[in-house]
Amino acid sequence: MTQQLALITGASSGIGATYAKQLATRGSNLILVARDAARLDALAASLREAHGVEVSVLAADLTRTEDLQRVAQTFADNERITMLVNNAGMTVEGEFVEGEIAPIQTMLALNIVALTQLAHSAAQAFQRRGNGTIVNLASVLAIVNESANGAYNASKAYVLSLTRNMQRELAESGVRVQAVLPGLTRTEIFERSGKSVSDLPADKLMEVEDLVAAALHGLESGELVTIPSVEDMGLWQNYDNARFAILPFISLNKPASRYL
Ligand SMILES: NC(=O)c1ccc[n+]([C@@H]2O[C@H](COP(=O)([O-])OP(=O)(O)OC[C@H]3O[C@@H](n4cnc5c(N)ncnc54)[C@H](OP(=O)(O)O)[C@@H]3O)[C@@H](O)[C@H]2O)c1
Repeated sequence: MTQQLALITGASSGIGATYAKQLATRGSNLILVARDAARLDALAASLREAHGVEVSVLAADLTRTEDLQRVAQTFADNERITMLVNNAGMTVEGEFVEGEIAPIQTMLALNIVALTQLAHSAAQAFQRRGNGTIVNLASVLAIVNESANGAYNASKAYVLSLTRNMQRELAESGVRVQAVLPGLTRTEIFERSGKSVSDLPADKLMEVEDLVAAALHGLESGELVTIPSVEDMGLWQNYDNARFAILPFISLNKPASRYL
């Protein structure tokens, strides 16, 4: 059996660092990507020591074109890579209209542009080899229009839509694609955008170890969409069924009667 080699973006903290720890526990070799090289080096050293796995570090700012190209090229250059955890992401302070546009543009460069390029490069390389796994980190806010920053929610709706279209395109290819939709999870993402994790309702906040363990469990059991806190996935199926119900009517050769 080929040993797994997972490239994880945003591996210096939170969900990405926790994927690194839990995949290393399962014997996976790792490539860790984020901006903070010192943090990545420290994590890499501790994982090599604790689990005897190979861990390399790629320091990169994925909002910078040259850095993004360098990381994307890794999938074509390194045939040993078997998994992408497309996790690096950020949010911004406040609502969409009231917020500054510059941080929103940086967020879109990370949450959408970088994620797309890495998903594309990994998918092409994995498809050629007929094997590989791509995990895209969306958010439950992908299906929420009632709160939070609209551009963040929309960026995660993009990730969900892209992932589901990739699942369709890659269904017969041997390449697995999973969308993970975390709810509130205890990481640095809140402090980074000027909020405090201690202000969040405790009954809605998941520990990051539980979130990643559930996501990996979902992956291993073949889930395409994983929403870790939802007990009854029939609710998700109903949500999807409502989408199927409208599909026969969304493109016809005449307007609906209310417009005539
Ligand atoms: N926590 C939640 O409640 C929650 C809920 C739903 C979805 N998510 C999603 O889960 C993913 C991980 O978030 P998290 O909660 O683990 O947040 P986090 O603790 O803030 O981690 C974000 C990671 O992304 C990296 N990163 C940020 N900007 C980057 C850039 N320009 N280039 C490369 N790496 C960059 C950070 O490392 P450096 O600073 O070293 O670059 C860090 O490793 C994100 O996609 C987020 O949207 C989180």
